[in-house]
Formats: sequence, structure tokens, C-alpha cells
Amino acid sequence: MTRQRLYINVDHIATLRQARRASFPDPVEGALLCERAGADGITAHLREDRRHIQDDDIERLATLAQTVLNFEMACTEEMLRIAERLRPHQVTLVPERREEVTTEGGLDLTRDRPRLADGLARLNAAGIRTSLFIDPDGAAVDASRDLGAAAIELHTGQFSHAPQDPLTLGALRDAARRGASIGLAVHAGHGLTTDNVGPVAAIPEIEELNIGHSVVSRAVFVGLAEAVRELRRAMDAARAHF
Ligand code: PXP
Repeated sequence: MTRQRLYINVDHIATLRQARRASFPDPVEGALLCERAGADGITAHLREDRRHIQDDDIERLATLAQTVLNFEMACTEEMLRIAERLRPHQVTLVPERREEVTTEGGLDLTRDRPRLADGLARLNAAGIRTSLFIDPDGAAVDASRDLGAAAIELHTGQFSHAPQDPLTLGALRDAARRGASIGLAVHAGHGLTTDNVGPVAAIPEIEELNIGHSVVSRAVFVGLAEAVRELRRAMDAARAHF
């Protein structure tokens, strides 16, 4: 089975910095360290309220990352302009609500359709690889393709809350298979840890995982490089079974 890409989300390095409005820890320094430890890409979410990643972080990540930058953003005029200027390797469009602690669900592709179609068209025209963060749901997978996305990122939140529930894993498997069968690249993420990543890493159609909170949390105890290596090992072990 092909090697799955591991993209590390560095938002929570910035969360720690913003807790004190200090100049450290620097998410860009963290990103470079993750890359040296084996990360295949760096993910960062510039939220409208700038609660963790700041504009300057995204600017520096876009130029300093040695691998690729997956820029997570809401589909707003402000963010589209930033993406068009910085031209990251990939943009993952996510829903955003100010009151949420983290991205709670996938995009609503029925309600946001014209705005998303327009945003995707602009990003595609800028030569940026596009991905939509969606719930593992067949209709959302089909709609993503119709809207013109190159990839989907399946929200693994339900699975991470109930990894033993066969329905949560089954939904991811079905959505991944469906996405790949209609020509979409399939990614996944949210709430994944070294303990629960195995079954998701073992889904053959999933090419890329985006993992943040657990790796930054684990870094407090074992250091960032080792936390990245632990995840890499857990993913490789899961795929070695096939
Ligand atoms: N993928 C997307 C689209 C996200 O919004 C997030 C959280 O920012 C993640 C992956 C990573 O989730 P976690 O921090 O729980 O690993």
C-alpha cells in the first residue's frame, strides 16, 4: 500500500504563544522541526478571529516551509485574497464559527454552494490544490466533486469520539472509497492520536492525514520531534498489515 502523507497542524503551538501574547513558541520554528522529524507537510488554520495562527505566521510558513503548506481557511473574501497572494500548495476550506472551540463539523455543501463554487474556482485558477473538509457522507462527497474540488478531507471527529463504534469507521471507509472512485484525492483528520489513528491510517484510499492537537500535546512530554515520529510509526504499522 502507498505511504500515507502526514501533515502536522501547528495551530496549537501558536495557541500556547497567544495564551501569553508572547513571541514564543514560534509555530514556524515548530513546523521546521516537524519537517526534520518526518512530516510530509505543514497545516495551519488562519481563523477570522486570529485566536492562534497570525497573518505573519502564515506569510512565513508560505515561504519558509521546506515541504508544503496546507492552508486551512474559511471561504471568505479576506482569506481568498491571502491565499491568492501567498499561493500555498493546498487550501483546505473549512466551516468556521466564532463560538466554536474547534472546527465542529464538515462544510454544509448545500447551503454554501455558490460561495464555495466561486471560492474553489478562484483557488483552482490560482493553481492551488483545493480540498473541502466534509463529514463522511456520500452526498457531501459527490457534491465536492461537482463543486470542482481536487480533494476532500474527511472529518474524523465522530470516529475519534467513538473509535470502537463500527459505524464511525464504516462511514469513513465508505466515504473514502466513494471519493476515490469518482476521482477525488482523499484526506482525513480531526481528533486523531497515536492510539486511535490505526484504523483510519489503514483505509487504503486515504492519502493524507492532518493531525495537530494530539501531537502538540504529546510534545509537552516527549518533545515535538519524537511526537511526530510516534505518529509516523503508528501510521506505518497500520498500513503494514495489508
Ligand atoms: N483538519 C482540519 C480541517 C481541522 O480543522 C483540524 C483542526 O484544526 C485538523 C485537521 C486537526 O485536528 P486536531 O487538531 O484535532 O488533530
